[in-house]
Amino acid sequence: MKTQVGIIGAGPAGLILAQLLHLQGIDSVILERKSRNNIEGTVKAGILEQTTIDILREMGVGDRMDREGHFHNGNYFQFNGQRRHIDLKKYSGGKQVVVYPQHEVIIDLVNAHYENGKDIIFDVEDVTLHDIDTNQPKIRYRKNGLDEELVCDFIAGCDGYHGPSRLAIPDNIRKEHVHFYQYGWLGILSDSAPAADELIYASHDQGFALLSTRTPILQRHYLQVDPFDDIANWSDDRIWSELTARTKTNDGWQVPDGPINSKGIFQMRSFVCETMQFGRLFIAGDAAHTVPPTGAKGLNLAATDVKVMSRGITEFYQNGSTDLLDRYSEICLRRVWKAERFSYFMTRLLHTNPKFDSFERGVQLAELDYYTSSEAGLSTIAENYVGLPIQWEKAEDLKAVIK
Ligand code: PHB
Repeated sequence: MKTQVGIIGAGPAGLILAQLLHLQGIDSVILERKSRNNIEGTVKAGILEQTTIDILREMGVGDRMDREGHFHNGNYFQFNGQRRHIDLKKYSGGKQVVVYPQHEVIIDLVNAHYENGKDIIFDVEDVTLHDIDTNQPKIRYRKNGLDEELVCDFIAGCDGYHGPSRLAIPDNIRKEHVHFYQYGWLGILSDSAPAADELIYASHDQGFALLSTRTPILQRHYLQVDPFDDIANWSDDRIWSELTARTKTNDGWQVPDGPINSKGIFQMRSFVCETMQFGRLFIAGDAAHTVPPTGAKGLNLAATDVKVMSRGITEFYQNGSTDLLDRYSEICLRRVWKAERFSYFMTRLLHTNPKFDSFERGVQLAELDYYTSSEAGLSTIAENYVGLPIQWEKAEDLKAVIK
């Protein structure tokens, strides 16, 4: 089998890429290790920033998001029992975020893909990459017990942190940066009323809590816990009493509770792979970087990576130029590092570090006060939360602009 772009992985990165390429008349084939039910049913994070909203709308895949998503103009940061509103729209020049869960985005993208008359090859095994430093890279895999080969012009590695694509970049030119946190998140889905009109990020001596939402009758909330804790230690009563203690306000407000219908604990990690390209292989999304969820950036980074990739590939087919493709990693990483910085900053700002002395906690509370009351503080939170722009220009050209 032959195609122009072989895409490994039917997550947000792979599916958005396929759609962007299709709109430019470029053919692709998507290979996915899991089943369609699995990718459409897994609960993941839920915030799309303005840059991602724009990409989905431009691709013609934003209708259901526009109808069913919950658009937010701001969010709340809470500490010392006080809630402070951050007007994201005002401080970012009119931008917004939308609560629209990742699996809904996946459902819309898979439907669009089938409407384009394209297929996705699900349930593939033993995916390996070959000849990526030639003009004819190949992907080999097994499907229904048979060995298959896909010959491509380019390979897009959109196969997540555990996929084979990143590891196909030779060790001597690949530098990986990993940072582990001593914080875990316990996430729940509950049949309860929304806590508020917008998300609440709460700092508390007992630990961080986040009150988010999915629908008017289904809420998504998180508690900071020990990453190695066992979910069996967390009864529904214990979860609600911690959520209540960490998010109640001095004026007596308490989070609405209800039956919990799913719960789990996950560990947080920051990760960046430099470079994101080798020969005809380009990696995107979680295959190249991961962020802790505090900054709500994961899916959004995947979307902008593949926007850069699709533009580079389009230029190649339109006029034979590899100028943009040659700078793929540089353009992406410039934005990725800033999103990593913001996610790391939000994580340190909001989580309770059991090792902090009272001085360090005092500084942390002062930082929370600063970022939620100074114009400069509010602007820096807002412009990062709604998503920084892609900087297409060369970094050295930028110096000339600043001079
Ligand atoms: C979510 O709703 O799942 C969510 C929202 C904001 C975050 C992380 C997760 O920062």
